[in-house]
Amino acid sequence: MKIHNRHYRSIWRKSEEPGIWQVLDQRRLPFEVAAVDLETVQDFEWAIRDMVVRGAPLIGATAAYGVCAAIREAQDDRDFDGKLAWYVERLRATRPTAVDLFKAVDRVLEGVKSLPDYEKWTAAVRIADALVEESAAQCRAIGETGLPLIREINRKKGGEPVNILTHCNAGWLACIDYGTATAPIYLAHDAGIPVHVWVDETRPRNQGAGLTAFELGQHGVPHTVITDNAGGLLMQKGLVDLAIVGTDRTTREGDVANKIGTYLKALAAFDNEVPFYVAAPSTSIDWEIRDGLAEISIEERSEDEVRFVVGLDGTAIRRVEIMPADSPALNYGFDITPAKLVTGLITERGICAASEDGLLSLYPEMAADAIV
Ligand code: MRU
Repeated sequence: MKIHNRHYRSIWRKSEEPGIWQVLDQRRLPFEVAAVDLETVQDFEWAIRDMVVRGAPLIGATAAYGVCAAIREAQDDRDFDGKLAWYVERLRATRPTAVDLFKAVDRVLEGVKSLPDYEKWTAAVRIADALVEESAAQCRAIGETGLPLIREINRKKGGEPVNILTHCNAGWLACIDYGTATAPIYLAHDAGIPVHVWVDETRPRNQGAGLTAFELGQHGVPHTVITDNAGGLLMQKGLVDLAIVGTDRTTREGDVANKIGTYLKALAAFDNEVPFYVAAPSTSIDWEIRDGLAEISIEERSEDEVRFVVGLDGTAIRRVEIMPADSPALNYGFDITPAKLVTGLITERGICAASEDGLLSLYPEMAADAIV
């Protein structure tokens, strides 16, 4: 995708420096487009934990390169295995909810485990690169499978613009390219189908106002930022045709963990008969769990994210306090939308019901792993 007409992915190799990757510092967007170098394991760990990078697929990709850095650094230690395991645990502990992180780490480790130590680094980078390419291709495919939904609504509306509500940022900044929830929107826009996006601001970190609005604006997609609480009224007024959100973890039975506030939008959509779709790449599906509320670890972040708001003051990015200093705050990062509120899952293999049967109709190979 493009920023100021220059093509970007959300993570890339620094040219001519094989051991350094670069990412956009998402904490500074939309006010400043700044690239950050990631080289040591500590850099990767920091970038994920501090949300320099965020969004499930990008967290996974960053963690995969983090394992590469861990392999390289562990090679300087007499106890290679012990040191690598220690680094990997640190990467795993950065953010608990998105399953992409754990899958990406496991994939790189699994791919190098039987190789001699001196071959592990090159092989790990190759695996991480493949994961990144696959992730971008998955997003593109999600765009293609989701596009007919938008086309059909546009047809039913006699060519009028399709109003789509989204929450948080499940766009290309959260992925490698295209995004998940935004991919069908970009493809629709590019195909000449008129779309307009209601962008939830997404307190406390405002990924909607800061990132999704920025992305859509750079691509020329008409959009309006709304407060998190506005979606229900817009649905009651018939101003939302479709909601599409992302997911950090989707259970075998179709429950969805996504940015806090997603559940409330799903409830409002259900009450107003607005189709509520979740764009779910297969990397987000945790086949080992069934019940989202009982089995998904919900990240609890610093209360400072609630206490302070970050924004542009003239030319400086500043944070200001918005509540009494002695009032406590609580900051759950995600919530669980039960499968019964999800109209369908948009995956890279097609659209299915948010249920075990639905998912297995697209991923029959996972039936063999059935858990009781
Ligand atoms: O806390 P974040 O910004 O990492 O949360 C991101 C989301 O909730 C996204 O919707 C999700 O990761 C899907 S990204 C395609």
